[in-house]
Amino acid sequence: MKEINSKVASIEESIFSQMTSLANQHRAINLAQGFPNFEGPKFIRNALKEAVSKKAYGQYAPMPGISPLLQELKNHYRESYQLYYDEKSEITITNGATEAIMVSSLALLEPGDEVILFEPFYDSYPISAKLAGADIKVVTLREPDFKWNSQELRAAFSPKTKLVYFNNPNNPTGRVFTKEELNELLALAREFDAYILSDEVYEFLTYDNHHHIPIASLEGAKERTLTISSAGKTYGHTGLKVGWLAASPQITHACRMVHQFNVFSVNPMAQYAVAVGLQQNEKYIPQLRSTYEKKRDLLFNALKETPFTPIKPQGTYFILAKIPEAKISEGLNDLALCKQLITQSKVATIPPSAFYSKSQEGALFLRFCFAKDDATLEEAAKNLKSFF
Ligand SMILES: Cc1ncc(COP(=O)(O)O)c(C=O)c1O
Repeated sequence: MKEINSKVASIEESIFSQMTSLANQHRAINLAQGFPNFEGPKFIRNALKEAVSKKAYGQYAPMPGISPLLQELKNHYRESYQLYYDEKSEITITNGATEAIMVSSLALLEPGDEVILFEPFYDSYPISAKLAGADIKVVTLREPDFKWNSQELRAAFSPKTKLVYFNNPNNPTGRVFTKEELNELLALAREFDAYILSDEVYEFLTYDNHHHIPIASLEGAKERTLTISSAGKTYGHTGLKVGWLAASPQITHACRMVHQFNVFSVNPMAQYAVAVGLQQNEKYIPQLRSTYEKKRDLLFNALKETPFTPIKPQGTYFILAKIPEAKISEGLNDLALCKQLITQSKVATIPPSAFYSKSQEGALFLRFCFAKDDATLEEAAKNLKSFF
């Protein structure tokens, strides 16, 4: 038989699936994959029920998305960030942010183009870039504050740079980037005429006095930015798989042409539920932030009572914690310790070296997800303490 596509042949099962299946096998508490184990908001489930009874929502949705959702997203960007997107020509509903990332990559990139990734990266970025045939340059966000080094960033740009994959608020570091940092990235993108794919799926999960600024809202950014977000994290139902992509009419058109022959359109019932969800934001988002901030503090403080050194996240629902020196000296890296914790302590985490391709720093950390009910977080903390 002839070989399958060589780019696809090298892709492995994602680290999230691997760790979740190991967690299930050992009945471990799953702090690995990023999804809540508690009930999401009732208004989403009620809206889903309501959508089922609407005859029109049993048929294909329009290719770009249903108009109530497009309209709500337009309102959201305008009211939250003074960012003006035309719902007819600049917003497209996708099957989660994952589809939006792939669609953007396929719409923009060609063999010979270069892309820039910040590591640790979300694992779909390098795969999407690779499938589109682009060459990857990596810039490392280094601990403890996970800022980029300005010289390293500038050196990664070249006249061939077409796209920068940027995730803010950042998974797994928990960074919420400042306006100064965004301006620095934007200035380079403008100088080298590169597009920015800004993955903002954790836009509402920011804590303390940190607030999300979409890079597209900065002056001169919108025309070269693809703003991507998703309802899964915000509305506590990752199974909704409703994401979106907002960009200039030219980029939107190209992305829609890929979307059209990939998924064509997204489940209209799920889209309707998200439109209803967005209407609740004024009341809902402050509650969401305060719930997650308490969970962050619970897990952060619990990890501080173990030999791990947790780094307090400014956003997202993940904590990176440094592996104790003693374990590193025993020759344990993140993956080995992760497996030990699953089998011996019944706690599953993610080994972040899967999110690095240049630096070895990932091997020094584990990633913990705190989107879990308090009892689960407390039990995990107890197990972790007794491991050492
Ligand atoms: C940074 C980042 N981008 C994208 C996604 C995928 O989002 P969706 O479930 O909407 O496809 C995730 C999910 O964990 C994520 O963490």
